[in-house]
Amino acid sequence: MKLAIIGTGYVGLVTGTCLAEIGNDVICADNDSRKIEVLNDGGMPIYEPGLKELIAKNRTEGRLSFSTDIGEAVRVSDIVFICVGTPSREDGSADLTAIEKVSQAIAGSINSYKLIVEKSTVPVETGEWVKRTIHTFKKEETDFDVASNPEFLREGSALDDFMHPDRVVIGVESERAEKMLRELYEPLNTKIVVTNIEGAEIIKHASNSFLATKISFINALSNICEKAGADVDAVAEGIGLDKRINTHFLKAGIGFGGSCFPKDVKAFIHISEKLGCPFNLLKEVERINEMQKEIAVKKVTEMLWNIPGKVIGVWGLAFKPNTDDVRSAPAIAIIKRLQAEGAKIKVFDPEAMETAKSKLGDSVTYCSDIYETAKDSDCIILMTEWDVFKEVDWNKIKDAMKQPALMDGRNLYDPDELKNLGFKYAGMGREV
Ligand code: UDX
Repeated sequence: MKLAIIGTGYVGLVTGTCLAEIGNDVICADNDSRKIEVLNDGGMPIYEPGLKELIAKNRTEGRLSFSTDIGEAVRVSDIVFICVGTPSREDGSADLTAIEKVSQAIAGSINSYKLIVEKSTVPVETGEWVKRTIHTFKKEETDFDVASNPEFLREGSALDDFMHPDRVVIGVESERAEKMLRELYEPLNTKIVVTNIEGAEIIKHASNSFLATKISFINALSNICEKAGADVDAVAEGIGLDKRINTHFLKAGIGFGGSCFPKDVKAFIHISEKLGCPFNLLKEVERINEMQKEIAVKKVTEMLWNIPGKVIGVWGLAFKPNTDDVRSAPAIAIIKRLQAEGAKIKVFDPEAMETAKSKLGDSVTYCSDIYETAKDSDCIILMTEWDVFKEVDWNKIKDAMKQPALMDGRNLYDPDELKNLGFKYAGMGREV
């Protein structure tokens, strides 16, 4: 099939590339000419394992191209995917300005039947607005359908998530649209859930909100475990082995971040209020997530007595491993709180140093590895569980530090091993 992907951000690039890989002709279009130039020169605007290679392969094989001409991409395509950003507004609602602009652009170029698919995460009822906008602005008398097909891609494993999904969700209003989307996803050989557009929109927000709820549940539990003298990881295993609960997303730590969970939980709270059914449970999910960062700062303070003038080494800036994304990363918030209290911060992250510069500027010292970060530090905080942080020569770290103290924000290390080596150790919800 011929496909246009409007928006070459994270979702658009992964979606376009993977749909090309399974045999479609794909044009990824964006009005950001700088981004398109980078992509056409073989560069990458984001870091995602394997994506660069897959883009190169599909370009060479002639199935994938990049363009700033959104109109032309729409004209030559059967299906048009809307993959533009929907950032949070001040009040927590999703800013849908970009979706409206793209809908108008599609309307201006539509010349024959098209299936317009929302891939961006949008509040329920957006599909209706997209439809109305295209009806209002279209210049030619032609049929079209709108559908919703939310993505469930995790940064760092997005290609695998796309190619081997647990399910594909499609929200449609016509048999024609359903048939086209079924055909498109047939090569993935997966369960396809078909519902109406509103249902698909809610599935996306509800999935992310449920996962965020699991994380806040285990984080709240971690604090109870710690006070009661239990280990949260053992408790998580004990509850997670019940298949109805499962062990995924029950890892306690300094909280969730990234471009989706914080934004989607906020948006869902906002939508539920607008619909007259306030989802207060999700407010608590947000509150617990904020509290985890405070708890991390408190633990560092308890280990160091006074913060002013102390040097703190930070391992990991990205909101999770295998990405350079620092959007809503707990590490950034915790660093800022410690800086506000007078700490000097040294940081290292294997991929996210450049992206972190936009948030931290020159207020921190950027180091080239964990040992340089540890040098003359009073405490290390493990913020992101990258593989490189798993193999540590602790004696070397201890020798480099001013005093050996570790705040393990992701419960990555063995507390006994560290304590035996003479470290002060604090984890999240562990018996210490
Ligand atoms: C998420 C969803 O998983 C994906 O389906 C959706 O479409 C986009 O949002 P992503 O943001 O890439 O993906 O990250 P994810 O792996 O889900 O982790 C989100 C955050 O939760 C990270 O900050 C991670 O550290 C944290 N997390 C995750 C925990 O703290 N504990 C866990 O057990 C799992």
